[in-house]
Amino acid sequence: MRTKLVAGNWKMNLTAAQGAALVESFAKQVAVRYDVDVVVCPSFLSIPKVRDTVRHQGILIGAQDVFWKDEGAFTGQVSAKQLAEQSVAFCIVGHSETRGRFGKLETPESTVPFFAETDETVNLKIERLLFHGITPILCVGETLAEREAGTTDQIIEGQLRAALAGRDASELYGLVIAYEPVWAIGTGQTCAADEAERICRFIRSVVEALADNEVAIHVRILYGGSVKADNAKELFSKPNIDGGLVGGASLDAAGFAAIIMSA
Ligand code: PGA
Repeated sequence: MRTKLVAGNWKMNLTAAQGAALVESFAKQVAVRYDVDVVVCPSFLSIPKVRDTVRHQGILIGAQDVFWKDEGAFTGQVSAKQLAEQSVAFCIVGHSETRGRFGKLETPESTVPFFAETDETVNLKIERLLFHGITPILCVGETLAEREAGTTDQIIEGQLRAALAGRDASELYGLVIAYEPVWAIGTGQTCAADEAERICRFIRSVVEALADNEVAIHVRILYGGSVKADNAKELFSKPNIDGGLVGGASLDAAGFAAIIMSA
């Protein structure tokens, strides 16, 4: 059986000291749970302090993004090699915000292209992460316009095929995929649990087509997009939803602890 996974994506919130205080607080509330993998994804700068704080608590560290080269003249970027040195176990890739596909646009339209990573950069990042033994949390999901146009499945299949092209089945065994409908991120609008389950089952079928049945059975598929303590239980009870990628609600110790307990 797949172990449930709950990951908190802190985005550009919390200083290192605030992050350390938050993990200390929710770690006390959930104690060590061997039946759920708990991951927190602080900003790069906070990783060492948060990692040292959770060292003996069974909480794993994820990064929010990575560059696709190991080293070189790439000002401002962070490599998978550098993340591996910091004991980072997971890394989010292809989040709709780094793809420039915002659910709620608070950013001037003219600056959106600067966030816009493409299917190709997502593919390159996954290759580097796997090389360094870091598990990618690959995010896929449709915008509201794509959902209304009836192209949801097609968009998701296209994102998966592009992101995973060139990887063989053995590399994909431990992969984590997060279904994150863009219109549900940070909006308070959650995807209905039955529809989230339908998409997660569809994602598993695409993985089976790209790799094989064994990989498809092992890959963990999360739902993300306005996950809260009061909707987590229903979402996580679905057979193809193996946990959640949680943004806003992961910034509150009691709320995040409740979500972990739902898994
Ligand atoms: P949210 O964000 O839980 O605040 O909607 C989820 C995410 O962006 O991963």
